[in-house]
Amino acid sequence: MATVVSAQKGEPTSQKEGAYKGALAGVGARPLEEVKAKRYGETTQGEVNKASFVRTDYAGDLEDGVNRQIDFENSLGYIALAVSAHMDRDTGALPGCAKFFRAMSEKEFGDAGKFMAFQNTRGGRVQLMAIPMPDSDYYSREKGDALYAFELALSLQKLNLDKLKALHRLADQSEDYQAQDFVEDEMTAQAGVIKQLGDYVCELKRVSGDRLGVFRFDEELAG
Ligand SMILES: [Fe+2]
Repeated sequence: MATVVSAQKGEPTSQKEGAYKGALAGVGARPLEEVKAKRYGETTQGEVNKASFVRTDYAGDLEDGVNRQIDFENSLGYIALAVSAHMDRDTGALPGCAKFFRAMSEKEFGDAGKFMAFQNTRGGRVQLMAIPMPDSDYYSREKGDALYAFELALSLQKLNLDKLKALHRLADQSEDYQAQDFVEDEMTAQAGVIKQLGDYVCELKRVSGDRLGVFRFDEELAG
């Protein structure tokens, strides 16, 4: 094409030179052109208040979903901390259970931290929320302390898996493969947590009504 145009204008140009210009016009990669739209923290959604130097193709509703997950993980950590305090009280006196729920609390706060790191890696903005005050007592006359608390923990972790699935759907909708991969790893780990709690609930139901059985269960957790 470049050779024809040049010939019509009567400009002196060689066959080789014309072919070279034609090759440039048809070149595929144009990184300097492509990067213009994404420079200086501009986002594909044009969200000025969420500008970031590293953000690229990170949907706003997914960013909000990650903040909700951070909030949920922190809430679970706070509840586990309250359960640990209940077990450590003189009326609970189950040190193994107190130790387990303290460790669970630290894990949940750690999970929140992982989502915070992901948010920042993607150029999102972490928005922490107020955590509701948890209950102080975890006991029922029918189930006692341990079974009541572990059944509650199992239900909460199943609910957390539902939250992770909802977050994964958001990642699917925006075809965010990096977010999908991250959430899938968390869901796999979550399935392991649910299995462990399910086993504990089963053991406690097996010794239901047997205080010595609960004592031995607690001793095992105390290590
Ligand atoms: Fe978690």
